[in-house]
Amino acid sequence: MTDTEALLARRRRLLGPNVPTFYEEPVQIVRGEGVWLWDADGRRYLDCYNNVAHVGHCHPKVVAAIAAQAATLNTHTRYLHDGILDYAERLTGKFGHDLSTVMMVCSGSEANDVALRMGQAMTGKTGMIATDNTYHGNTALVSQLSTRRPPIGGYAPNVRLVPSPDTLRAPDGGTTFAAHVAQAIAELEASGHGFASLMLCPFFANEGFPALPKGFLDATVEVVRRAGGILIADEVQPGFGRLGTHWWGHEALGFAPDVVTIGKPMANGHPVAAVVARPDVMQAFRNAFGYFNTFGGNPVSCAAALATLEVIEAEGLVVNAREVGAYALERLRALRHPMIADVRGAGLFFGVEFTEAGNLTPAPDFVIRLVEGMRRHGVLLNKIGRGANTLKIRPPMPFSRENVDLLVQTLEAVLAETPMP
Ligand SMILES: Cc1ncc(COP(=O)(O)O)c(C=O)c1O
Repeated sequence: MTDTEALLARRRRLLGPNVPTFYEEPVQIVRGEGVWLWDADGRRYLDCYNNVAHVGHCHPKVVAAIAAQAATLNTHTRYLHDGILDYAERLTGKFGHDLSTVMMVCSGSEANDVALRMGQAMTGKTGMIATDNTYHGNTALVSQLSTRRPPIGGYAPNVRLVPSPDTLRAPDGGTTFAAHVAQAIAELEASGHGFASLMLCPFFANEGFPALPKGFLDATVEVVRRAGGILIADEVQPGFGRLGTHWWGHEALGFAPDVVTIGKPMANGHPVAAVVARPDVMQAFRNAFGYFNTFGGNPVSCAAALATLEVIEAEGLVVNAREVGAYALERLRALRHPMIADVRGAGLFFGVEFTEAGNLTPAPDFVIRLVEGMRRHGVLLNKIGRGANTLKIRPPMPFSRENVDLLVQTLEAVLAETPMP
């Protein structure tokens, strides 16, 4: 048995079957630094995928902040502590639209669970809407919105999933999407559940990040407002400056959500997430549910989150995302291959969509071969979208132009050696 086979067997025995791994031959990563990862054999990989290590793997300032606070105190929010308040002040300073109160939790799933319940608390209703090709997390409530594995017993009757935008196949300035949302709201109201909230990733990341024009959601926002519902922006993926032009995806798309959820990149890998809401929304939730989360907002988490935020600012990583992301798009658009249907993205979140040559039928098997080929050549990335036919490239934020050059050169080589179907 090879080392990899032995590890996989040990995982199956100890963790149970079907624990997901990336790649046909999973990678055993043992060390990270900046945009680089090393496997157990000492091989170095360019990380073009991991947004959690937002300011770079093992950033020394974040590591030091975690270590210092862990060596001083770690309790929970039933004791008074400046850490959570200092962070909440800094974080809410990054938001407009009166998004000025914060609840800290430990995962994006928890944040979205709370956000959906905020919708219930504000409206007294339970109807939820999301897109039909997304993932917002894994609690019992949130997984009702996930389309990857439909819930046992089917979707709850208070859930509606509207068609996700696809700018390549069905260009839409936003009116068609808004019409679907309006129809879903009407159905929820007619069914007696009523409409509580619409939850969206403002970059539609899991949907394959279609190239949406600014203002795309304007008509939808109006529909939601008229119906008295709550608009939740799930910023777990686009947040913290990844898109390069703004700190938050909803700013880039130009709309004002009632609630924002954040997670993954928030503390550079330390498990922290949060819900940011207007005071009236937070108050309605606290009155309806109360809430305590043993680990959410503990001093170590807050130190990690604050250090991450400070590094983003100090190292100019939002501007870096804008400049390096633009360079990456330019270089990728210069690639010539009959199966490239689209190159799109914003900041350091971009990709290439592959279809059958000459038509728009997704080519997921070809994209799997590319992902595997890139991994063999030392570049880690993955795929996304309804057809699973778009390369998903979402590296740590200190990604440089030299890193882009290596990514594109490697992709060129892998394209040349991968047979077309
Ligand atoms: C858009 C989105 N929201 C929420 C989540 C859930 O976050 P977590 O895995 O931290 O629970 C994910 C995870 O992939 C996600 O992609």
